[in-house]
Amino acid sequence: MITPDKILKFIKQKPALNLSQLEKEAALPKKTLHKALQGLLTLNEKHCNLLEPILREYGYADELFAKAKIIAIVNHKGGVGKTTTTINLGKALALAGFSVLLVDFDSQGNTSQCFGVYAPEVQVIDAILDNVPVPILPVAENFYLAPSNIKMAYRETDLVNAIGNEKRLRNKLSQISEQFDYILIDCPPALNIFTTNALVASDMCIVPLQPEAYAFYGVENLFNRIYEIRQHVNNTLQVKGILFTMVSNTLVHKQMMTFVKEQYKHIPVFTISIERATIIQQSQVAQQDLFSYAPKSNVAMQYMELAKEFMTI
Ligand SMILES: Nc1ncnc2c1ncn2[C@@H]1O[C@H](COP(=O)(O)OP(=O)(O)OP(=O)(O)O)[C@@H](O)[C@H]1O
Ligand SMILES: [Mg+2]
Repeated sequence: MITPDKILKFIKQKPALNLSQLEKEAALPKKTLHKALQGLLTLNEKHCNLLEPILREYGYADELFAKAKIIAIVNHKGGVGKTTTTINLGKALALAGFSVLLVDFDSQGNTSQCFGVYAPEVQVIDAILDNVPVPILPVAENFYLAPSNIKMAYRETDLVNAIGNEKRLRNKLSQISEQFDYILIDCPPALNIFTTNALVASDMCIVPLQPEAYAFYGVENLFNRIYEIRQHVNNTLQVKGILFTMVSNTLVHKQMMTFVKEQYKHIPVFTISIERATIIQQSQVAQQDLFSYAPKSNVAMQYMELAKEFMTI
């Protein structure tokens, strides 16, 4: 059933829709949708009934919102911005009105630490190995965390030896995916059983990449792993895009970005890239996401742009 909430989410995911045109086609008073998007008006049943047939022509379907889209933020190279991207893309989506769960799937626990969670009593690895629910901690409006810490590393062998080991996270997330619009999984810097679990559980992945030689050399192995997973276990896994991170305004970075695009013509690259900025390190010391710490900073705006580019249907 179409609801005001789903209508607004659909419109946000289709920035190419002309709101005035929609209002005209649905015979709604002018600016109804503009005001609803700004939170100045609540769409009522009559608005919804008028909009439903029009939006269906533009691709609306109830299934679009039936369960969360699951996205792995993945690169086995360390320190490329996976955690930073998970947290700030997640927060940007939550600020846009979507319900977002961050799954910390790295025993370093950096995503959890960002929210002040150091020693979660129950963590993601317990949920996937023992028969307990995924722990879900609210961290802000529309924004939730499934935490991890070093204990996850101690249980890696248990996971390797478990029946159906590669699908454990997928099975667990499928039980809660109706509660969220997006589930973002922060992966560890390794091509191990945890990363495989994350990719098997996901509809798509984002690959943060620094435009530097060493970062580029290893990425081929990651793409090979993704193809293997697609071939054998999860044939709908999509690479949503390479995201260039920690980019400086230097010739070498420009050349490297052009080179990557030429090498991987078949893989999308996000138009927006994330610049190198010390404000990111400062926000992490302050244990805040960028939108709380420095909402007007360039990098906050870049992560908001990324969210817009990412959520476009
Ligand atoms: N755009 C940026 N500009 C400057 N520093 C950044 C940027 N993005 C991330 N960093 C810093 O780089 C370091 C690594 O970032 P982050 O933890 O997000 O990477 P990661 O890929 O998750 O690392 P790991 O592989 O260890 O999990 C952190 O200290 C972070 O503050
Ligand atoms: Mg990390």
